Amino acid sequence: MKVVRKIKKMQDIAQEARKRGKIIGFVPTMGYLHEGHLSLVRIAQRKSDLCVVSIFVNPLQFGPKEDFKEYPRDIKRDKRLLEKEGVDIIFCPEEKEMYADDFSTYVKVEGLTEGLCGRSRPGHFQGVTTVVTKLFNCVMPHFSVFGQKDAQQALVIKRMVRDLNLPIKIVIAPTVREKDGLAMSSRNIYLSPKEREEASILYRSLKTAKEMIEKGERNPNVIIGRMREMIEETSGRIDYIAIVDTRDLKEIDLIKGEVLIALAVYFSKARLIDNIIVRV
Ligand code: PAJ
Repeated sequence: MKVVRKIKKMQDIAQEARKRGKIIGFVPTMGYLHEGHLSLVRIAQRKSDLCVVSIFVNPLQFGPKEDFKEYPRDIKRDKRLLEKEGVDIIFCPEEKEMYADDFSTYVKVEGLTEGLCGRSRPGHFQGVTTVVTKLFNCVMPHFSVFGQKDAQQALVIKRMVRDLNLPIKIVIAPTVREKDGLAMSSRNIYLSPKEREEASILYRSLKTAKEMIEKGERNPNVIIGRMREMIEETSGRIDYIAIVDTRDLKEIDLIKGEVLIALAVYFSKARLIDNIIVRV
């Protein structure tokens, strides 16, 4: 396993691999890896000849009051985990090389980025699409794997790739959960033991929503109301709960077809997100 820091070096390796007809699979991450990340890595491994994982805590996607500084980092542990998975290259670019002092070019997806997490995190998705484009230009992958856990991010990346004609296939992998249903996240480390226990309410509320739909409920407000009640019994502070069309992420007033039920809830400073897709 190689650790590559320089952008030019990464591009040279990618170009050389492509010349030899190798398939490059890529998993972008911000590190502090858990089983969710590793499930993406395993998919990339299986389908590629050269598997690249990037670790870069991207300052551009954090708001001024968000947790960029505190975001957990443990590169040594990450390296060990990726070595065990048999990853070929870890790409850890340096912040100063990624963002020159006079950096001034951005990639912005409109529409899809305006609701859900986009509403409470202005600029977040522009930070994500900009860094992912840059990482794609460094790693030059044939395909890249993203998690359904960040449903809006996955859809935004797919749209960006389509709209900009990037020759990269986007693969979406299912959400990996703890035993009690809590979606794995690097931010779960912020939770106190009590909050950690309470946080399982998020997935339980999503499952309740699914059951309500299966029993015939079609009014999103009734379902959201029930989810709200469940979460409000804990110390969680709701940022949003929404039921949207999976294609355009617009809120709907009647449940039909394929819907995404998504939420973001704060436990103290930890902002946790989760979602499920339900088809009727
Ligand atoms: P990060 O939060 O580190 O997540 C990296 C990838 O892992 C994302 O595609 C995310 O959806 C996926 N992931 C996280 N938790 C998961 C879980 N429990 N199950 C399955 N997949 C999971 O998302 C980012 O980093 C950044 O925005 C990034 C795309 C790297 C751009 O900076």
